[in-house]
Amino acid sequence: MMQQLKPNVYSIRAIDWDRRLFDELIPLPEGTTYNAYLIEGGNKTALLDTVDPTKTDTLLDSLAASAVDTIDYVISHHAEQDHSGSIPAVLSRYPDAKVVTNAKCRSMLIDLLQIDESRFLTVADGQTLTLGTKTLQFFDVPWVHWPETMATLLQDDHILFPCDFFGAHLATSGLYVEDEPMAYESAKRYYAEIMMPFRTMIRKHLERLGGLRIDMIAPSHGPVHRKPQPILDAYEDWVSDRVKNEVVLAYVSMHESTKKMVEQFSRALIRRNVVVRQFNLAATDLGKLAIALVDAATVVLGSPTVLTGAHPKAAYAAFVANALRPKTRFASIIGSFGWGGKMVEQLAGLLGNLKIELLDPVIAKGQPNEEDFRAVDKLADQILARHKEIGIAR
Ligand code: FEO
Repeated sequence: MMQQLKPNVYSIRAIDWDRRLFDELIPLPEGTTYNAYLIEGGNKTALLDTVDPTKTDTLLDSLAASAVDTIDYVISHHAEQDHSGSIPAVLSRYPDAKVVTNAKCRSMLIDLLQIDESRFLTVADGQTLTLGTKTLQFFDVPWVHWPETMATLLQDDHILFPCDFFGAHLATSGLYVEDEPMAYESAKRYYAEIMMPFRTMIRKHLERLGGLRIDMIAPSHGPVHRKPQPILDAYEDWVSDRVKNEVVLAYVSMHESTKKMVEQFSRALIRRNVVVRQFNLAATDLGKLAIALVDAATVVLGSPTVLTGAHPKAAYAAFVANALRPKTRFASIIGSFGWGGKMVEQLAGLLGNLKIELLDPVIAKGQPNEEDFRAVDKLADQILARHKEIGIAR
């Protein structure tokens, strides 16, 4: 369906209400949208990105229903298939269309989609392309979240098309952000799962974009930001080094020993006015855990010992946290064992990407006893002291 954003600027969304998993990894509780955009400049017409290959027909039908007879340029901001996957079908339908992108994305599109080299027009960072009455300017914004990622500024209307950057997996019938808390939550989930590992790069991009006049942000997933400032401010906060007086407590327990320590630890943190976000890894939504990792000063993993090591669900959480590279400052491990094993060493070894201070783990033999509970309380004291030292707790 084509919907007008501004005169001669249209959104062409494919709404995927039912999708529940991305990359066979990331939960999509609210579905998603794949947003392409069409800009008519009088002399030339540009299509900005396409849609997921499962929705190619939706895109082509929308173009046909709006009698779009000519596409001169297909601007490709990102080679990942949820935006590029319908490019071959569009090129086939519009045989004179050229794919406009940077050199790295061009190379990746050739590899991934086997698009013929003759179909490309390569553009450099900062270069402009006029469509007649409208002019596009291209910006390389690498690592949001692949190395080739690019954004386009529609100069005349001051609309930024940043592709995944500032996006959200959120299927809505409305074209624009209307429910701001819901949009914030979805955008934070998206940031946590997809953008957080590239926090430092994003900071540089935000500085550069801050020098541009941007009246609207039209990403490739989720609703359009008619007011750009809230999402820009949210990103500034997320990518900053500021952490909050929070502990993410992600645990799994088989026979209640670890669970008892987790409960004692939670109570100890609450008494010390430290926010605790507790996740039972046997049931949790990975996205919720990722969101909590965006701000927390401390992460504590809880695991029993199974087959001489960490419970695989705890190892999985550690692996994911390590890959997402949150700005966490402190970490620890609590848990239990029956007769031996290397659970602590395993979990600590999985956190190598994180610039953390590892606080003394607390591990019970069998059911935790009073001494174990006292050690858990001491860990809470230690966390509070560290949070005070960095000025986030009183
Ligand atoms: Fe929405 Fe990285 O693709």
